Amino acid sequence: MSQSPVSYPAPSRALSPVTICVIGSGYVGLVAAVCFAEMGHRVFCVDNNETKVAQLQRGEVPIFEEHLPQMLARHLNGGVTFTTDLAEGIHPAEAVFIAVGTPQGSSGAADLSYVEAVVSQIAQVMNGYKVLVEKSTVPVYTNEWITRCMHRHGVPSDQFDIVSNPEFLREGTAIGDFLHPDRIVVGANNDRSADLLRRIYAPLTEGSYYAQPEALPGPCSATQPATLVITSAQSAEIIKHASNAFLAMKISFINAVANLAETVDANIEDIALGMGLDTRIGPRFLRAGLGYGGSCFPKDVAAFSWVAEQQGVDFSLLNEVRAINDRQLDLFFEKIHSALWTLRGKKIAALGLAFKSDTDDTRDSPAIALIRRLLDAGVSVAAFDPAAIESAQGVLPASDALTFAADPYAAAEGADAVVILTEWKQFASLDLQRLNRALKFPIVIDGRNLYAPSIMRDHGFTYVSIGRPAVYASTQGRPRRNPL
Ligand code: NAD
Ligand code: UGA
Repeated sequence: MSQSPVSYPAPSRALSPVTICVIGSGYVGLVAAVCFAEMGHRVFCVDNNETKVAQLQRGEVPIFEEHLPQMLARHLNGGVTFTTDLAEGIHPAEAVFIAVGTPQGSSGAADLSYVEAVVSQIAQVMNGYKVLVEKSTVPVYTNEWITRCMHRHGVPSDQFDIVSNPEFLREGTAIGDFLHPDRIVVGANNDRSADLLRRIYAPLTEGSYYAQPEALPGPCSATQPATLVITSAQSAEIIKHASNAFLAMKISFINAVANLAETVDANIEDIALGMGLDTRIGPRFLRAGLGYGGSCFPKDVAAFSWVAEQQGVDFSLLNEVRAINDRQLDLFFEKIHSALWTLRGKKIAALGLAFKSDTDDTRDSPAIALIRRLLDAGVSVAAFDPAAIESAQGVLPASDALTFAADPYAAAEGADAVVILTEWKQFASLDLQRLNRALKFPIVIDGRNLYAPSIMRDHGFTYVSIGRPAVYASTQGRPRRNPL
């Protein structure tokens, strides 16, 4: 795992430290736990995965995330302690953050069984008033279900409050996002619990964290600290779902425009630039490609859609967002098929396995879905990813037709084409001559628009991308759009 050159000196102290328990040490729980310690709080992080906890206790970081190894090393056994013992974490804590998974259930609704299990376990070991904080992404009214669950286990109302504090971090930039958030949303239904959350986030919202010379640099500062938004619990729960659904919609929108652009030989990169410069639209999340993946957008759009349906609200826009996203992968597969004429027996180099760059996460990765389809079509695949090979080996079928290469050029050796599936920076600066020499045929099908078509043509490639005219190596014919 790559180490950043940033130096990591002694920890900072919060003005009014809070003892916090974080339950779940995944992408969100682990980052939150380490960042709360970085903000000067005392943190106990509980996970029921013994292997993971043992790893963390040794200072080993189970995920690929910039700054995390160094920050964990800085706070381990000082600010943050890892344990499998729930009572050890809960007893001293004033606030208990629930950061377990909320995967998609079979109906599209979020599966809240991990949340319910944790709440039941917390109820068994309560030893005084605590604020339970929903950090996991949950549907509206989960705060009420948690309250009901606590009551069912005999915990009286005066012993707890529930607060919704959704997390907006992105994988790959999680530490920076957590310490320099666009906003912190706290949904609390009374002042007592809102005040505790105010105290927890005070180093960021009052700026004392940024005033320290050793603070992680980023967009927030002592003079422009993070913004706190206090709402009702229901509003906060909806803010999270609505934010993810909106970002997913932006991606589907630009992908639909890209498909239109292709039919009239326009260029989606120019179109996105021209649209994004309008400050009301903004340039971010306007990158056309294979469609969104990951452990959050797909499941959160489905869960939000389910919530609307349950409430009898017509929000069919969300169905279209999903349909466009699903089609995007079909269209890309069709492009590969079209560029190669037939697929069975061909060899393809797949650059990218993670659902996006700067992470080893392959959950709901478009790259994995595409590789599965290629394998099913009788293609042999040589795949490379800078961080996600191990994770991909756990989800892709073991097969003679699938190999993992040491670098992009080894993957391309003797291949009929290269497909670019993840937007890693490394894939945007390949040695094109070397790549061309390695390939059997100089064909690149780019699902992330990492190259200018004119540059690829100049390097002798047939280059097919998203929402831009394809260019053809002089020896290659122009394929039909829909192969017969
Ligand atoms: P994850 O699967 O990486 O981690 C969940 C952790 O919870 C695992 O380590 C698991 O062992 C642990 N766990 C499960 N049940 C437990 C129990 N009973 N006691 C103790 N530990 C238990 O999940 P994640 O990606 O961190 O996501 C967690 C939540 O945060 C989800 O609701 C997700 O939608 C939301 N979220 C995720 C991201 C992200 O980028 N991954 C960003 C914002 C919000
Ligand atoms: C997303 C949100 O950005 C976070 O704010 C949120 O906290 C998180 O989900 C969550 O709730 O879990 P993340 O899934 O880590 O974060 O990654 P993104 O950077 O949002 O990318 C999601 C997917 O969209 C990736 O597959 C990426 O390749 C794709 N994408 C993103 C595009 O296709 N085009 C874009 O312009 C941006």
